[in-house]
Amino acid sequence: MSSDTTNAVHPAGPLGPAVLDAGAGPDLRAEGLRLAYDSRVVVDGLDVAIPPGRITAIVGANACGKSTLLRALARLLAPRAGTVRLDGRSVQSIPTRELARRLGILPQSPVAPEGLTVIDLVGRGRSPHQTWWRQWSTSDEQAVHEALRATAMTDLAHRAVDELSGGQRQRAWIAMAVAQETPVLLLDEPTTYLDLAHQIDVLDLITDLNRHENRTVVMVLHDLNQACRYADHVIAMKSGRIVAQGGPGDVITARTVEEVFGLRCQVAQDPVSGTPMIIPIGRHHDDASEPVAATGTAG
Ligand SMILES: Nc1ncnc2c1ncn2[C@@H]1O[C@H](COP(=O)(O)OP(=O)(O)O)[C@@H](O)[C@H]1O
Ligand SMILES: [Mg+2]
Repeated sequence: MSSDTTNAVHPAGPLGPAVLDAGAGPDLRAEGLRLAYDSRVVVDGLDVAIPPGRITAIVGANACGKSTLLRALARLLAPRAGTVRLDGRSVQSIPTRELARRLGILPQSPVAPEGLTVIDLVGRGRSPHQTWWRQWSTSDEQAVHEALRATAMTDLAHRAVDELSGGQRQRAWIAMAVAQETPVLLLDEPTTYLDLAHQIDVLDLITDLNRHENRTVVMVLHDLNQACRYADHVIAMKSGRIVAQGGPGDVITARTVEEVFGLRCQVAQDPVSGTPMIIPIGRHHDDASEPVAATGTAG
């Protein structure tokens, strides 16, 4: 996508009116990435292009490099080789503040400073939008309250983040990322610690942000069925490589699941969404029945 569409997809409020031109949006891609910790190379020679204006889910077994890739896309980890580009520019060359207005990340296990309240944490999401001549404003105030409302955190706004339950804390961090109002949102396991109802709330919220504000979302998810339901594009990783990517119906097949997770399964059709639904087999059950035909539908 051309870079001049980037600013056009950044509307006023976190859940503001539906925006224009679905499918347009920031162009985030990486070429020839080598990512390592000390001498340990985790990812090598990886190319990836994130579909603009869409929701992408990254799936794969523990320790395959999902968080490492996401952190590199967000410039939290400098590549040993290769380049991450946002609208054609290397992210290494984009000033920090500008990058923070365009790309937000929820890391896997964020830690808030001791005693910091929820509302102050969420308010920090606004700092990239402030300048010496324009400090806290009513639009910041609005964005914070809207983000608290959208994540059902209003009643907990004045509690300390480090005193919340895991699920409440996760929602506080999501609220911060929402308040940051970036066209690109990277989320590392946003549903971890959440009970099922809150998992669905968060995924619905992410879908709203995508559909109504055209935000490009990349999220690491463990639940393959949720990935199939909520993502337009699925990237399956194994040992630092992308082994399959595309629509959920093309990627989440019994074969890919076996290759990526070493798990035998059947793929049925989710009765609610029509997307692929994984039924694991395991060692204590027989795979006697005829496999249910996998669906090719992605919606
Ligand atoms: N800070 C770190 N220092 C050293 N090794 C790390 C660090 N973070 C991750 N790793 C290693 O990199 C590999 C990929 O980790 P990660 O990207 O976190 O996997 P995933 O998110 O897919 O579970 C793992 O082998 C992990 O042990
Ligand atoms: Mg991880």
